[in-house]
Amino acid sequence: MTLTTDSFEFVADLVRRRSAIQLEAGKEYLVESRLAPLARRAGLGIDEFVRAVRAAPSEHERDLVVEALTTNETSWFRDGAPFVALHQHIVPALTAELAPRRLRVWSAACSTGQEPYSIAMTLQDALPPQTEADILATDLSEQVLARARAGRYSQLEVDRGLPAAMRARHFQADGAEWRISDELRASVRFLRHNLLDASPAGQGFDLVFLRNVLIYFDVATKQQILARMHRVLRPGGFLVLGAAETTIGVDDDWERLPLGRGSVYRPRGAASDPPPWPATVPTPFGSGAPR
Ligand SMILES: C[S@@+](CC[C@H](N)C(=O)[O-])C[C@H]1O[C@@H](n2cnc3c(N)ncnc32)[C@H](O)[C@@H]1O
Repeated sequence: MTLTTDSFEFVADLVRRRSAIQLEAGKEYLVESRLAPLARRAGLGIDEFVRAVRAAPSEHERDLVVEALTTNETSWFRDGAPFVALHQHIVPALTAELAPRRLRVWSAACSTGQEPYSIAMTLQDALPPQTEADILATDLSEQVLARARAGRYSQLEVDRGLPAAMRARHFQADGAEWRISDELRASVRFLRHNLLDASPAGQGFDLVFLRNVLIYFDVATKQQILARMHRVLRPGGFLVLGAAETTIGVDDDWERLPLGRGSVYRPRGAASDPPPWPATVPTPFGSGAPR
């Protein structure tokens, strides 16, 4: 039996309340296809399964439904430009403004780990001696976090954006899979965190990657999350969004810095404003202020 309107509305409401992901009318096919494996495992039809979840006293089934409705699409060095910017501009800017120390980096909504591990690989090459990085990676879904922590990827996943030289340096073939090096795996700390909740690790981050997740939220939720990121970034820190995302028209408290084929953002009006762009380092994309 297909999903009734009542069951669809229950799922859409549950997912909106627990993750802020919007499932408007018309997304019934998505809900059906994502819940089908759970329903099959329970030996139930889709609508029966949703009714069983509604009646279940435990939270576990509800969490599984919310996780099933997350979209976990990701790849290595996704879109390229943010990682070029990280290596060529962000690290030089952060380390020129500060004495060498530990950089604090947060990959929020990290999915199966390709994003934070791409950050770790980039930082390994970009950080000057005596500077280290703490990389925190978070997601709402325990299932993607378990995969990220395991650091094992199929050939198909590895083929999505991982350069051969990086694969040779940081991965080992293990049966049909590729296993990330222990060193890289240990350099990222994975934690479950809902973007609707307070920061899982306080303030004072130098860099936040928040990519390809705001697109699932309504404007009020985007504003709430961007305001929180503004608070957790230290003055002079950087925010990196997905290629289809921007703060413009959503939250005016950010300065947008076009870089190559992409952009990054810095918090405006923080307790002590960052030095004027381009700070003390020339941009890698030519001299003078970015256009
Ligand atoms: C499309 S993936 C993006 C992965 C990675 N940032 C990238 O750009 O490749 C979106 C991720 O956001 C997570 N997500 C969705 N809603 C969330 C929420 N409220 N809090 C934390 N993570 C959430 C999903 O579980 C999913 O793994």
